Amino acid sequence: MADSSVKIAIVDDSESVLKHLTQLVSSMIAEDAAVPFKDPQVALSWCLQNDVDLVIVDYVMPKINGLQFIEAFLTNPSRTDIPVIMVTTSDTMEVRYRALQLGATDFLRKPVDKIEFLTRVRNLLSLSRHHKQTKTQAVLLAEEVRKATHAIVARERESILVLSRAAEFRDNETGAHLLRMSNYCQIIATRMGLPSEEVDLIFTAAPMHDIGKIGIPDHVLLKPGALTPEEREIMTTHAEIGWQILRNNQSPMLQMAAAIALSHHEKWDGTGYPKRVSGLDIPLAGRITAVADVFDALTSVRPYKPAWPLDKALDFLRSNRGSHFDPACVDAFLVSLEQILAVAERYGSA
Ligand code: C2E
Ligand code: SIN
Ligand code: SIN
Ligand code: FE
Ligand code: FE
Repeated sequence: MADSSVKIAIVDDSESVLKHLTQLVSSMIAEDAAVPFKDPQVALSWCLQNDVDLVIVDYVMPKINGLQFIEAFLTNPSRTDIPVIMVTTSDTMEVRYRALQLGATDFLRKPVDKIEFLTRVRNLLSLSRHHKQTKTQAVLLAEEVRKATHAIVARERESILVLSRAAEFRDNETGAHLLRMSNYCQIIATRMGLPSEEVDLIFTAAPMHDIGKIGIPDHVLLKPGALTPEEREIMTTHAEIGWQILRNNQSPMLQMAAAIALSHHEKWDGTGYPKRVSGLDIPLAGRITAVADVFDALTSVRPYKPAWPLDKALDFLRSNRGSHFDPACVDAFLVSLEQILAVAERYGSA
């Protein structure tokens, strides 16, 4: 324990006791380990501002007593792990109980026995060192975990985009639709005040909304013109196919994706598909995705339609607010238009 960086604060208003304890620490622990204080207030402010490994404090002192010192010191969150020994001539259990309650680690009785004193100081120093190491390790570990989690989330997002692109590839070669619409979803969800974990889930899951198109034959999906009622019937199955691909998984993100796949073509007034649910019975993520998806479909070229000009697409959202779309989602979209257009700009049109 001959560690030159160890600091032991010794607080005692009695000059002779202070000198005695300082001498013991200096000779038995390390030359410069003892930091003596006659004034408890000076001691307290030093102990709160400097790295200290152990505090030895007297009980009866002028201005603030040992209990008050311990209370002020240990209620400071950065100091709660530092051991404190109270030195007292008092045999009253009351003082000791109080000191224990306040977090004192140990007691010493005056007059101080040399061997007992050094044994306790050594033990508590090793405890203090152990706490310090554990704390440092915990901080490092937390940082490692944070980095690893971040990497996993980023990779998960990548994998999802790759798989979603595969599904989207036939009717939308760039996959830019997925990037735009998931960013639109993120903007709408954030504006609606959803918690950030929920926003992240929607943002990550939204690219999978049309994964069920993988089950739609080319002659329907890629038809250059309008669909016949039969073809339209086939086309609408993509919502349920997507849900079947994504459902029954543990991952909250895949559960979110399954809900979005199933509900993104439902309409606020109950005229959508596949379940024809309405209003708040449609999952919120589905209502958000509907606005993002349709806006992007309208403003993009499709095998069956040219891209609409922005004004026409915005008019479509406004005039279908409350029929096709949840009014709250349309409002959140419209007040965020500047951000929406920045995303459209960044990822280009399909
Ligand atoms: P999508 O192309 O991604 O379109 C998504 C949604 O945007 C459509 O859902 C619809 O609500 C809206 N939308 C897209 N284009 C138009 C449009 O020109 N006018 C209007 N009013 N709304 C539009 P919907 O209708 O359930 O269609 C789902 C998917 O079915 C579409 O995804 C597309 O892949 C396919 N589809 C829809 N209509 C046709 C069509 O006439 N011809 C072909 N070949 N495919 C179509
Ligand atoms: C003193 O240390 O000042 C004497 C009284 C006590 O500690 O109980
Ligand atoms: C206490 O139990 O109050 C303190 C321990 C002791 O008696 O020394
Ligand atoms: Fe769809
Ligand atoms: Fe889509």
